[in-house]
Amino acid sequence: MLQHNIELEIILKNTNLKITADRSLLDQMFINLMLNAMDAVKEVSEPCIQLYADQLNENTIELKVLDNGKGMDKEIQERIFIPFFSTKSSGSGVGLSLCKQIALLHGGNIEVHSIEHKGTAFTVELPEVQLIEE
Ligand SMILES: Nc1ncnc2c1ncn2[C@@H]1O[C@H](COP(=O)(O)OP(=O)(O)O)[C@@H](O)[C@H]1O
Ligand SMILES: [Mg+2]
Repeated sequence: MLQHNIELEIILKNTNLKITADRSLLDQMFINLMLNAMDAVKEVSEPCIQLYADQLNENTIELKVLDNGKGMDKEIQERIFIPFFSTKSSGSGVGLSLCKQIALLHGGNIEVHSIEHKGTAFTVELPEVQLIEE
């Protein structure tokens, strides 16, 4: 993220994390979360994005994308996973609804915690092994 002067921290407490998942869908999910985080820190003087992964319990992995960007109020937080909801002038509003679908498809979930003018954390919980129905 050199061109954007965004500090990127990758926090892996456990380097043996493994999950069985659809690689391209998980890529898509984290690309969406990272692009949103990059948008959110645009006006911040010391922008920082953190990626975090750890074992949550015996069969669940927890992944987080955190930013110190503009954050969101409660009303916006309640709508962000709805398809086509966007606060951006040229936003499509499909990113987070897709993230939600991908998390649910893998038997997991995605949640947001955000404080206006402070930052946002997206937490994705995924079971280590999933039974994806064809
Ligand atoms: N990291 C974030 N910080 C602040 N707001 C966010 C963040 N991620 C998402 N949002 C809010 O959620 C809305 C929906 O996001 P998304 O579905 O990716 O659509 P889009 O990025 O096209 O607007 C965004 O328009 C923005 O208001
Ligand atoms: Mg987006």
